[in-house]
Amino acid sequence: MDAYKKLLLANKAWVLDKLSVREDYFRSMADVQKPEFMWIGCSDSRVPAEDITGTGPGELFVHRNIANLVVHTDFNMLSVLQYAVEVLKIKHVIVCGHYNCGGVRNALGNRDLGLINKWLRNIKDVYRINARELETIADPQIRLERLVELNVSEQVQHLAETSIVQKAWRRDGHPYLHGWVYDIRTGYLKEIAMIKPGTQLDPIYQFNFDTE
Ligand code: CO
Repeated sequence: MDAYKKLLLANKAWVLDKLSVREDYFRSMADVQKPEFMWIGCSDSRVPAEDITGTGPGELFVHRNIANLVVHTDFNMLSVLQYAVEVLKIKHVIVCGHYNCGGVRNALGNRDLGLINKWLRNIKDVYRINARELETIADPQIRLERLVELNVSEQVQHLAETSIVQKAWRRDGHPYLHGWVYDIRTGYLKEIAMIKPGTQLDPIYQFNFDTE
């Protein structure tokens, strides 16, 4: 059988399964979504956001890209963030990285990968900013794991630096910004960073909305 047909069959079984528990399962969900969490994760197939957090449809507003990056010129991510924060009034934004991340591993190398060089360049910047710490770690595997963690922290910081988040902090008193790392080998999530609403940032990144 063509491999893809397996997915369509599984979908039919899933629908029946849901309906057997609750007859109006789909109808009840059709009109509105009110998720409390936005998830910015890696595209890696081994990190299924809902599965690892025990959440279901309607609970996570999801954006995924290679190595879970928050890039200030990425209109895709920014649009998801703006909608999440301004319309859905999301309370928590979670950046979730993971160990054994191919994106982070390749960013540490020097191979020319074409277009993706430009994306991974953002992780090279995280390396440069933290080079002093990273270069004290002799074991390459441990150094790579630490870069995964530092990358998550840096992306959480990038979220705080957006006018979208700073305006929401002022207006709504949220979202909280979280940085987590998923360990593919054990299944556990680890908390790496958290920025509370209203946190004072480096002044160069702080917007002053009073002058509007
Ligand atoms: Co990854």
